[in-house]
Amino acid sequence: MKNILITGGSGFIGTNLVNYLNRKNFSITNLDKQSIVSTPEKFKQETTKYKFYKVNIDNIKKIRPILLKNYNTIIHLAAESHVDRSIDNPKNFYLGNINSTINFYNEINNLVKKNKIKKPNIIHISTDEVYGSVKKGNTKENSKIFTSSPYSASKASSENIAQFYLETYGLNICILRITNNFGPFQFPEKLIPKIILRAFDKKKIPIYGKGKNIREWIYVEDTCEAIYLIIKNFQNKEVFNIGSNIRLDNLMVSKIILKQLKYSNKNLIFVKDRPGHDLRYALNSTSFRKRYKWRNKHSFNKGIKKTISWYKNNKSWLSEIKKKYKDKRLGSL
Ligand SMILES: NC(=O)c1ccc[n+]([C@@H]2O[C@H](COP(=O)([O-])OP(=O)(O)OC[C@H]3O[C@@H](n4cnc5c(N)ncnc54)[C@H](O)[C@@H]3O)[C@@H](O)[C@H]2O)c1
Repeated sequence: MKNILITGGSGFIGTNLVNYLNRKNFSITNLDKQSIVSTPEKFKQETTKYKFYKVNIDNIKKIRPILLKNYNTIIHLAAESHVDRSIDNPKNFYLGNINSTINFYNEINNLVKKNKIKKPNIIHISTDEVYGSVKKGNTKENSKIFTSSPYSASKASSENIAQFYLETYGLNICILRITNNFGPFQFPEKLIPKIILRAFDKKKIPIYGKGKNIREWIYVEDTCEAIYLIIKNFQNKEVFNIGSNIRLDNLMVSKIILKQLKYSNKNLIFVKDRPGHDLRYALNSTSFRKRYKWRNKHSFNKGIKKTISWYKNNKSWLSEIKKKYKDKRLGSL
């Protein structure tokens, strides 16, 4: 039985991943500092094989005794992840993401070198945003890294940290560059839940610029399955893009959701664009698809249907989250 450690397992992808891996009967430990976006523990599916520690992963003293329990696989998701927040507070955001990663990997490396733990397989979660805006075609794993926001820069730097722990110190690391996820448990400051919740409340829906920014959208369960395949068949020193080929601009995304909710497009309003807003992301995920015989199972419509119904049916999660969520514009400079 694999013993898995997840960082950031209370965030959007993390919560879905913990629930997914629970269903596969893994034994899971979650390290999360529980920030504003985090899902409270009471919403996790119940299982005896799950442990949670409320901890910042850059706190070596606190994470050392946990790491000493030995994990076959470590999935590093913990990061501040909202571009708009990163624009408001670039220094803290950038330094926070890289300090936590370097301290965490450094401690793992120290314990491995002292033979206190077995060398774990580390799955390092990164993003398609590290490639920056893609004018045409798509980005492969060896395409140029060109970041534009403090968030994407912190993720690229975090990858560099993973690379040197791999190449110089010999840790086992596989990097996944994943595209935009949507689904249950996503904090409503992100585009899709923001549209859904504002439509539920019969409010206007702000669209940055002219809504022409294109993202590649993947339903979070498809991402969880991809990570599960890497856990089962770990490839050291590999970088994989994980995307869906579903590329839509923000206006299209909004209209599809509003159509499903029978809420008029007249409620969309254009607002000042995000500074440095990347126009288009497009991933070439052929390498991962071929190697793991994986394909995303959700069309955008199918994923959105499930997402809307989840937000409709999880009122207690929503009212808890709304206590923390101010729904005000961030990152407009
Ligand atoms: N959501 C996406 O579309 C997407 C796409 C590609 C990559 N990613 C990456 O996947 C990961 C998870 O994304 P998400 O959308 O679930 O993010 P999220 O913001 O919803 O959750 C991140 C979680 O990490 C925790 N965290 C942050 N810093 C921490 C620290 N120093 N110590 C302990 N816990 C900490 C937070 O409390 C939060 O619960 C991130 O690394 C993100 O960059 C996300």
